[in-house]
Amino acid sequence: MAPYALRWGIIATGKISGQFARDLLVDPSSREVSDVSHKITAVGSRSVESAQRFIDDLKNPGEGESFSWGVKNGGLDQVKAHGSYEGVYNDANVDAIYVGTPHNLHYKNTKDALLAGKHVLCEKPFTIDIEELEDLVSIAKEKNLFLMEAVWTRFHPIAYAVEEVLKSGKLGKPKRFAADFSMDYDLDSKPDSNRFVDPALGGGSLLDMGPYPSVWAMLLVHRNPHNKDQNPKVVNSYQSIYKRSGVDLNSRWIVEWNDVCHGQLTTDLSAPGLRENTAALQCEQGDLVVEYPPQRPETFHIIPRPDRYLGSIKEKTTHHHPIHKGNHGMSYEADEVARCIRDGKIQSDRMPWEESKVVQRWFDSVRKNGNSATKDMKGSAGQ
Ligand SMILES: NC(=O)c1ccc[n+]([C@@H]2O[C@H](COP(=O)([O-])OP(=O)(O)OC[C@H]3O[C@@H](n4cnc5c(N)ncnc54)[C@H](OP(=O)(O)O)[C@@H]3O)[C@@H](O)[C@H]2O)c1
Repeated sequence: MAPYALRWGIIATGKISGQFARDLLVDPSSREVSDVSHKITAVGSRSVESAQRFIDDLKNPGEGESFSWGVKNGGLDQVKAHGSYEGVYNDANVDAIYVGTPHNLHYKNTKDALLAGKHVLCEKPFTIDIEELEDLVSIAKEKNLFLMEAVWTRFHPIAYAVEEVLKSGKLGKPKRFAADFSMDYDLDSKPDSNRFVDPALGGGSLLDMGPYPSVWAMLLVHRNPHNKDQNPKVVNSYQSIYKRSGVDLNSRWIVEWNDVCHGQLTTDLSAPGLRENTAALQCEQGDLVVEYPPQRPETFHIIPRPDRYLGSIKEKTTHHHPIHKGNHGMSYEADEVARCIRDGKIQSDRMPWEESKVVQRWFDSVRKNGNSATKDMKGSAGQ
């Protein structure tokens, strides 16, 4: 049977949209996928020139670029450049929209796309606050349209592999969790308009980087077979402030899963992360440690506890689960979207709305408890 081909419209022509578009054009068989495929049928930008430039760049891959497969195999046939996002929402040749705009626009762009009858994959963080997210979910339900936050890491080979370890039960009950996403971003060298610097764009470390310690918290603790708490809350948090614009330079927050464990989550724009430990789950029988970077790790370790506390794990083992060659890692989430839409589902079991809401509530709580320029930022739900 021919694979189900999903027709994508891309909103915005920035950095991550370019990466996503390239991954859509990689040969699915290179990641052992044969049931779905992808086409890009529309690109929307605030200027038609930018949309056309984006398409022209895709049509002219450099020597050896893996996405040339899609260019040669019809992945860009009849693709149209639109000088507005609305043009893409209303394009009859589009099934699903990828939203790659800055954080503060996710709600409006996703809502407009849903109201125009399109399925949506929206970049992280899903929205600015929980009210916006709840509004989007109710529109998706009412319109019977697929909606998902683009937390690509959940669909990487390593994410399935750690899940198997947890399901096996060999680590025992969780005792403690910590996860971090840090990078030395050198904010001082960036202009005021940079989306990490500008509070109006939802700048700072929390909203941009927070989804990554959170993805490991959700995979290792929240979805752990030992956890029954569906609404883990932030019990404490702290943010330090980047004085020039008032955004958070770093954020630290502690989450409690009742009857399971605490998790310590951190983001930082002023320090590089730890190479060998971006997320760690300590359990009764041994520990599971994921290597940097948290958005795209390929290696984890299972480690015995210190000698005087030894559990049933006696030897350190290292597990590599690389992203398939030629792929940046965004194809997997696109495959999930295609499969769900093909099967008439409006949300993904692997990235369900309830789990996006849990994380969005953490961010609301950390922001409100901090003192950054985004502390009282409200989304535009209902407008
Ligand atoms: N999943 C991931 O790994 C990942 C990685 C990086 C970023 N992201 C997420 O993707 C989103 C975009 O990030 P990015 O790094 O691609 O940003 P970017 O390079 O700055 O691109 C954002 C694009 O949004 C459009 N835009 C509309 N209004 C804008 C405004 N007022 N200011 C700036 N741009 C505006 C622009 O496209 P047009 O001019 O074409 O309209 C711009 O090129 C963010 O929410 C971020 O969290 C995800």
